[in-house]
Amino acid sequence: MIIALDGPAGAGKTSTARAVAKGLGYFYMDTGAMYRAITLAVLNESESYSEVDAARISDAVSVDVRYIQEQMLVLLNGEDVTELLRTPWINKHVSTVSSFKAVREKLVDIQRSVARHMIDEGYGVVVDGRDIGTVVFPEAACKFFMIASPEVRAQRRYDELLGQGKPADYDEILQNVNDRDAIDSGRDVAPLRQADDALVLDTSTMSFKEQVSQVINTVLERQEQHDV
Ligand code: CDP
Repeated sequence: MIIALDGPAGAGKTSTARAVAKGLGYFYMDTGAMYRAITLAVLNESESYSEVDAARISDAVSVDVRYIQEQMLVLLNGEDVTELLRTPWINKHVSTVSSFKAVREKLVDIQRSVARHMIDEGYGVVVDGRDIGTVVFPEAACKFFMIASPEVRAQRRYDELLGQGKPADYDEILQNVNDRDAIDSGRDVAPLRQADDALVLDTSTMSFKEQVSQVINTVLERQEQHDV
C-alpha cells in the first residue's frame, strides 16, 4: 500500500512521514532528498547551469536509495550524500533544478521502481513530495496534502535548525519557503498541487503528535473499511 504525503516546503511532511512509517512498519521514501542529490551534482559542476546542463548531469549520475536501520540514505554515484543535502545552498537551487523535465523523468522512474520493489517484498511505503498523489503514484491508497501558513512553516524550520545547533535566519528561511513554493507551484511539469482525492491537513494549529495520529488513523480506517 502506498501513502502519499504532498505539500509545500516545511509543512511537516518529512517528520510526519517518518513517524507514520515507523508506526505502521512501512518504509519511508523522501523524494525531496533525491531532487536535492541531483541539485548537489549540478552545483558541484557549476552554479550557473542551464536546463541543458542539468539534464546532461542528471543523465550521467546515478541516484540510489538504501535503508539502514529504517533511515533512508541517498547515494549519488555510489557515495552516501544524505548529510549534505539540507543546506541553504541546496535550498536556494533545488526548486529550479526540480523544475526541469529530464530531472523529473529520471527521478520519477527511480521512485516508482523503489516502491514497486518494496511492495513486491510485502511492505507498505509512505512517500512524501510535491507530485506524489498527482503524478508519481496517482493510484496511492491514501493521499494527504499538508498545509500551514508560510510564517508557521518558516518558524518550524527556524526552530528545527536552532535545535540542531545550526545557524538560522528567520527572514531568510521565510524568503526561501516562499520562493520555493512559487517555483514548485508555477512550474509546467508536475507542479505542486493537491490531488482531488487527497485529504487536506492544515497543520498550522496541530501538534506533531496530532498530525501523525490523524494520518495513521485515516490509513487504519481505510484498511478497516476494506476500502484499500
Ligand atoms: O523538506 P522540504 O519541504 O523543505 O523540501 P523537500 O521535500 O526536501 O524538497 C525540496 C525541493 O525538491 C522542493 O522544494 C521541490 O522543488 C523539489 N521536489 C519536487 O519537485 N518534487 C518532489 N516530489 C519532491 C521535492
